[in-house]
Amino acid sequence: MKAIILTGTSNGLGKSLFDRLSKEDASLFCIARRFLPYQEELAQAAGSRIHLRRADLSRTDELPTTEEFQRFLDGRDCREVILVHNAAVIEPIGAVGQLDPRKISEALQVNLAAPILLTNALLAADTVASLPVKILFISSGAAKRPRDGWSVYCATKAGGEMFFHVLAEQFQDNDRVSVHNVDPGIMDTSMQETIRSATHVHFPQLERFVQFKEQGMLASPDDVAAAIINEYMLAGQKEYPRETP
Ligand SMILES: NC(=O)c1ccc[n+]([C@@H]2O[C@H](COP(=O)([O-])OP(=O)(O)OC[C@H]3O[C@@H](n4cnc5c(N)ncnc54)[C@H](OP(=O)(O)O)[C@@H]3O)[C@@H](O)[C@H]2O)c1
Repeated sequence: MKAIILTGTSNGLGKSLFDRLSKEDASLFCIARRFLPYQEELAQAAGSRIHLRRADLSRTDELPTTEEFQRFLDGRDCREVILVHNAAVIEPIGAVGQLDPRKISEALQVNLAAPILLTNALLAADTVASLPVKILFISSGAAKRPRDGWSVYCATKAGGEMFFHVLAEQFQDNDRVSVHNVDPGIMDTSMQETIRSATHVHFPQLERFVQFKEQGMLASPDDVAAAIINEYMLAGQKEYPRETP
């Protein structure tokens, strides 16, 4: 059985991943600051197979520890561990000099520090040292292309990609651990709603993002979840790069 650790299951892509993975022969360790009632019910019915771990990822002291990951993995007939860093925030959007410092700190923590800390904690677990491990960082086209108004989001995604590139180097001679930066492309989620509502701040490309929605260019998060699961979790190691326009 695969053990899958997934952040941000309450909405968007993370919720779609939860919906599909909860039906697979896999153990789930879901990290979110809230869980939906049907998720609580499903977890209760699934017993120890689905573990819901409440945590605000902007708070280091709330993150699961190595010992927690170890306890989750102990006693399972676990053949592979997959860690999916999905949770992220797009805000603060606007001109540098006018950003809310609390939102800057929150984005740095959720988008960049939490993935680093969780990866470090998981790789320290004894059980993990002898299992195949796959780590997915759900990134964005914003990691590679500067977007005026998204300075913090771009910086956190670029920083995250570099951290996982370095991790991939660490394991370059060891097939046991594989690391992937995954650009899911533009999706019809609450993150896109937040982007379209950035009407009173500096964000020159606002109209373009309004058009993505109006012209039906946003992918369904369920379709993207299906593609990511198919390409990284059920089948082989094929990459899933989707170009963000
Ligand atoms: N949507 C796009 O067009 C797009 C494009 C490229 C890349 N991406 C990337 O795809 C991933 C998923 O995005 P999405 O569109 O599905 O976003 P979303 O709908 O906004 O969902 C984000 C998830 O992250 C969680 N989260 C945010 N802050 C958190 C915190 N402090 N603690 C715990 N959980 C927190 C949210 O929880 P709450 O429900 O509690 O807020 C939610 O479950 C992200 O990494 C994003 O950067 C998205």
